Amino acid sequence: MLKVFTGIILCFLLTTPIQAADVITFGSVSQVVFTHKEHQKDLGGCTECHGAKDPGPIAQFGEKWAHTTCLGCHSENKAGPVECSGCHTQF
Ligand code: HEC
Ligand code: HEC
Ligand code: HEC
Repeated sequence: MLKVFTGIILCFLLTTPIQAADVITFGSVSQVVFTHKEHQKDLGGCTECHGAKDPGPIAQFGEKWAHTTCLGCHSENKAGPVECSGCHTQF
């Protein structure tokens, strides 16, 4: 039974490329709404956030990564929110 299940899931993974949602929401208490698709369009690529690897889940993702990468780009380019409430629903 487990084998059949694994087979079905494997077929699914092999035939469907992983797609990011247009908008990704992080966190539970204080949420961050991230317009993934808009950022893709604005930045014209994937490497700024995903590096050279195939884009997908980001292993180091979390507070430190986000405050370095997200906030870092916003303040460097003077575009996008840098104040807490610009990204978080609380703080
Ligand atoms: C401004 C930053 C940024 C850019 C640019 C970006 N992404 Fe992402 N992407 C993210 C973040 C953050 C996540 C969520 C990572 C996580 O939860 O581990 C993500 C997740 C994903 C995922 C996984 C979705 C899932 O449900 O696991 C895929 C696939 C993806 N991105 C593809 C792309 C592709 C393709 C491009 C370029 C055309 C791109 N991304 C550009 C930040 C970005
Ligand atoms: C490499 C640069 C870059 C990175 C990395 C980046 N952003 Fe942005 N972001 C922008 C720019 C440029 C804008 C302004 C776009 C505009 O106003 O048209 C923006 C706008 C925003 C906005 C306000 C507009 C909107 O789309 O909702 C939010 C919120 C935001 N970013 C969150 C994030 C989060 C969260 C991350 C990390 C997961 C992130 N950004 C990573 C460049 C970046
Ligand atoms: C550019 C967007 C952005 C700005 C500005 C920003 N953050 Fe964040 N922050 C994030 C993202 C994305 C995460 C990761 C969320 C996750 O992993 O659930 C995060 C995570 C956190 C966390 C960890 C808790 C959690 O929910 O994961 C805290 C605490 C936090 N931020 C506080 C702040 C404070 C305080 C400020 C203002 C000084 C701030 N942030 C500014 C995007 C931002």
